[in-house]
Amino acid sequence: MTIEQSSASSQHSSMYPFVIAAIAAVAGILFGFDTGVISGAILFIKTQFALSDSLVGMAVGSVLVGALLGAALSSRCSDYWGRRNLLVITSIIFLIGTVFSAFATSVWMLAGFRLIVGFAIGIASYTAPLYISEIAPVQWRGALVSLNQLAITIGIVLSYVVDVSYASSGNWRMMLGWGVLPAAILFIGMMFLPKSPRWLFLKGEEDQARENLIRIHGRSAAAKEFSEMSGVQEEKKAWGVLRKEWMRPALVVVIGLAFFQQWTGINTIIYYAPTIFQMTGFHGPTAAILATLGIGIVNVLATIVALPLIDRWGRRPLLIMGSIGMGISLGLFSILFTMHSAEGAMRVLAFLSLVGYIICFAMSLGPLMWVMIPEVLPLSVRGVGSGLGVALSWAFNALVAFMFPILLGLLHPAGTFLIFSLLSFACFVYVWFLIPETKGVSLEKIESRLRAGYKSRDLGC
Ligand code: BGC
Repeated sequence: MTIEQSSASSQHSSMYPFVIAAIAAVAGILFGFDTGVISGAILFIKTQFALSDSLVGMAVGSVLVGALLGAALSSRCSDYWGRRNLLVITSIIFLIGTVFSAFATSVWMLAGFRLIVGFAIGIASYTAPLYISEIAPVQWRGALVSLNQLAITIGIVLSYVVDVSYASSGNWRMMLGWGVLPAAILFIGMMFLPKSPRWLFLKGEEDQARENLIRIHGRSAAAKEFSEMSGVQEEKKAWGVLRKEWMRPALVVVIGLAFFQQWTGINTIIYYAPTIFQMTGFHGPTAAILATLGIGIVNVLATIVALPLIDRWGRRPLLIMGSIGMGISLGLFSILFTMHSAEGAMRVLAFLSLVGYIICFAMSLGPLMWVMIPEVLPLSVRGVGSGLGVALSWAFNALVAFMFPILLGLLHPAGTFLIFSLLSFACFVYVWFLIPETKGVSLEKIESRLRAGYKSRDLGC
């Protein structure tokens, strides 16, 4: 045993992977915070800079364009710099983007620096789950990766808490500025974490990879992880593999889930909830932002309920029930806008239908997009394939956010939410016919079925 090995093994604790995952998941908090905070801030930014509908769309959507660019580059950057170092660099980008957007003197400056924050979010949304999955013990991998989705929902709630705190003063600069806190925590925390053993291995630093594995998992588990790692090395040809015909069923799942997670309207609620609540009779920004906080808390709680069910009930039942529930809730929400009911009743029903919608999303498409995309991709293309899925998700997200204020103007809230309701029912049809059940199915089995030419619905059990 070398000196490094003995010191590595003496540092090992069974809680260590959880500590690492919790610190890396701060990236998820930043994702949630920096995308959610705009919902309250936009009410005041709109007034301060006298914004038209399309400029509102730009102020909200610039972060998403940045995220799309960041996600598109993240697979290459994380291979080049390594997951740990990239997350350290990302936290610095977060800090710079946040400080300058909080001091913005025009909507253009705001949009520019929010784009930079978005760039960091895009990189983090790919790199943090990847890093967590590479340090997680096999039996905890699903749960630890889902921790990232939980962190996203917690980040959204924190952003709403900050929005509520500054709603009466209308201080949108402080709302955005609080983002420096999780960014600083991520920066400091990541400096102390080990580099991903898998990345070290891919870079040819096998001794260091083995040492980090022992430090994270202990000696006996490390040996198993190391031998698994040795079997995987085809990344360079990954784009070619993605284009192969037998990959199509996996792409149906990757592209479809990325599309429906965004085009069933989740972020019209997450980003614009206070605006929507004002339309349904919650007068004044404070009441509307408070109602939004309620939605955020329901999102966290429903995500906590969903996580153990993903492996108990399976992916299909959750996605089927979730998409039908989302369709019904949004249909109801849309109908409410066509009625001239008493304001009090309208308010309660609107709030309840959005609560129902959020519960259904958080228990289905919310976590399952992140869980299922890597599951259906063969090991050799999991990196670039997941990068493609995450980048597409941001592209769809940006498109919805840009179009939402315009759709509201054209179709009114009733027509707009009717479209999202119909797309939720379309998602049900898609899930029914095309989504496999991957609960308890080994990744190797999914891959061998894919290579054998099975349809997407039959990739699992
Ligand atoms: C989605 C985000 C969304 C969040 C809401 C995530 O899975 O990718 O777009 O804002 O869930 O909880």
